[in-house]
Amino acid sequence: MPSYAYFHKQFVPLSEAKIGIMTHSLHYGTAVFEGIRGNWNPDQKQIYLFRLKEHYERLRNGCHVLKIDLPHSIDEFCQITVELAERCGFHEDIYVRPVAYKSSESLGVRLHDLDSDFFVFIIPWGPYLDVDKARCSISSWRRPDDNVIPPQIKVSGIYINNAFAKTEAVENGFDEAIMLSSDGYVCEGSGENIFLVIDGKLVTPPCYNSILPGITRDTVIKLAQNELGLATIERQIDRSELYTADECFFTGTAANITPIAEVDHRKIGNNEIGEITKRLQKIYFDVIRGNHPKYLDWCTPVYKKAK
Ligand SMILES: Cc1ncc(COP(=O)(O)O)c(C=O)c1O
Repeated sequence: MPSYAYFHKQFVPLSEAKIGIMTHSLHYGTAVFEGIRGNWNPDQKQIYLFRLKEHYERLRNGCHVLKIDLPHSIDEFCQITVELAERCGFHEDIYVRPVAYKSSESLGVRLHDLDSDFFVFIIPWGPYLDVDKARCSISSWRRPDDNVIPPQIKVSGIYINNAFAKTEAVENGFDEAIMLSSDGYVCEGSGENIFLVIDGKLVTPPCYNSILPGITRDTVIKLAQNELGLATIERQIDRSELYTADECFFTGTAANITPIAEVDHRKIGNNEIGEITKRLQKIYFDVIRGNHPKYLDWCTPVYKKAK
């Protein structure tokens, strides 16, 4: 099924949305992006876009830091995305990729005196880490500090750091990398936040520890508290705590909740998917598909009538 993009303020076939080779962001990474999932609910014949508004709020923050000026309000971004998804007409899980970027066809490293633009496109997309349990290694690549490149926004340029880490891990036979901060604390995967279960408590690195404040991370913290009565401790985590944790899992829009089976050839817990991880996965998958009435505010339906 052909897909569509919103590009240069119009809806066009994805194959027609092209940018010039001199575009500033292609050379210097001067763009911010989002990854949003639309989850197909087969019983309701509906796609639910998960936490759409929160994704565009993070995009707006990124635009502010990068001096990308766009006329759209958060509501307009959301409306454009829903209309685009409806036009695409998919009956499966989808992935939405909005990008706000320095669009001038102009060379020279800077953020000022450049035009800005925005596009968004949609593709069908199933699981990202296509494994039940991920085997991971600690990366030799450290996460940049906020004064190097702010990790709290999704700047496209910073993702070369993530790409180094991911490829190193895959070429060494692992599924995913876990990166440490410059001062050696556990940060996150190449495209996911990380949680540990230690003595029945959830533990995750704090936002000031060079992580992206993930929307799935926030979702899991809230679901754990509301549905399982489990508080999350946000604190610095030592590398060796990963090896000895009872359970460990990644969270992310692309990866959903993916259990971690192994870190640096050390098995985590009893090498099975842990009880708390399993319970959170069950609640989370119900929530993102619009099957949990309490959390429907997080789910934006794409189709006005069931498809
Ligand atoms: C580096 C990084 N950390 C964490 C995440 C998870 O964030 P979210 O749950 O908002 O998708 C992502 C994905 O966007 C990411 O790229």
